[in-house]
Amino acid sequence: MSDKTIPTAVLKSPITSSQSPLSQPEQHVAIIDHNRCLSASRLLRCPTCLNSWRRCAEPGAASPLYPLPNRSQSKTLALKKAHPVIIHNRELLPSSFLRSSVSSVTSWKDFGMLCPTSMIVYYNGQYLQKFEVAISPDDRGFLFADGVYDVIRSYRSKLFKCVEHLERLAHGLKALRIEGLDTRSLEQISHQLIRNNKLEEADALVYLQVTRGAAPRSHQFPPSGTPLTVYVEAKAFSPPVEQQQNGAAAILEPDQRWSRCNIKTIGLLPNTLAHQRAREAGAFEAIFSGDGLLQEGSHSSILFVEKDVLICPPLTNRILPSITRSVVIDLALAESIEVDTRSCREGELFEFDEVMMLSTSAEIVPITSVNGRKIRQGYVGPVTRRLQTAFRRVIGPNEIKNLD
Ligand SMILES: Cc1ncc(COP(=O)(O)O)c(C=O)c1O
Repeated sequence: MSDKTIPTAVLKSPITSSQSPLSQPEQHVAIIDHNRCLSASRLLRCPTCLNSWRRCAEPGAASPLYPLPNRSQSKTLALKKAHPVIIHNRELLPSSFLRSSVSSVTSWKDFGMLCPTSMIVYYNGQYLQKFEVAISPDDRGFLFADGVYDVIRSYRSKLFKCVEHLERLAHGLKALRIEGLDTRSLEQISHQLIRNNKLEEADALVYLQVTRGAAPRSHQFPPSGTPLTVYVEAKAFSPPVEQQQNGAAAILEPDQRWSRCNIKTIGLLPNTLAHQRAREAGAFEAIFSGDGLLQEGSHSSILFVEKDVLICPPLTNRILPSITRSVVIDLALAESIEVDTRSCREGELFEFDEVMMLSTSAEIVPITSVNGRKIRQGYVGPVTRRLQTAFRRVIGPNEIKNLD
């Protein structure tokens, strides 16, 4: 089914919010609650996720109900199959109603409030519904991957190693000569987003991205003073507990990235290609091998254990200075585990006693096989377990201790 075949309802008259995409006539209207079965889905579109209709049940299923998230504020209506609907004053209504009384629809914010996947994000000084963000096609992030990003974990409202993440972001901006942002200001914004999205009790990830801003396409930098594009969002997150417990598979991939991998830029194509290959091979991660050396994962760092010594590849321009890695090295030292920093050859991989991959989101995942071949016996090793236990103590559910 192509996009052209989505006959979404059409707005005939403007609504109140001047910034709203709905203020343009002939816009598609939106819908809600795509976690439920929407058998009329080919007519429906959620402004937050846009593609959700693809995942919905096929037309032909029984005539669906469209419950709103908050039943106390709404009626649940049985609607005819393939009948476009919209939220109006917190009720579901057929779009025929909308056509006659669109002027009384308040704003896109109201739609968002009722969409279970709605998300308040930060965009260039404003807190908005995610679907209200309109990034220019001239944005240099879009045109040139001209920007940096970072990801911070929030454990029940505590931003773990926030200062370190924001310093790394600042370092990346400096390396790319993107000026004009004090990244420390993003801490308060991240906290605000945790609150706005009611993630105080949740495990969450905060994603931050800064680009050189929008300017007509030219390789040359835009004039100084061009506003940067600053975007932050927070979302609930579940770590890969099964892999943390039982270990996971990885594959080896040639490192085809550029030579400044120590900067966390948004240009991640080799990383996504490698990770996709890992997933297609049924593996958890891809390990980059470059210049014959084991470097890091597509979105994680890597550490090895050899005769109870934690082996860390040196931080070169081929490796991102992973915050999790530095936490784990500190933990190892605190646990009296010997730490050695040295380059690790690809040929050594199956000689190590343990391999682990680390990241803000996955924490510590033991790697028990690579390219289908077991690391030692294919079990999670004792040093990895000790480090996982120590890590849990640091980020433990009720108490976040600072390692500094
Ligand atoms: C290439 C790469 N290496 C390592 C990491 C792990 O970094 P951190 O521990 O700071 O999340 C990431 C995380 O995204 C990454 O993309």
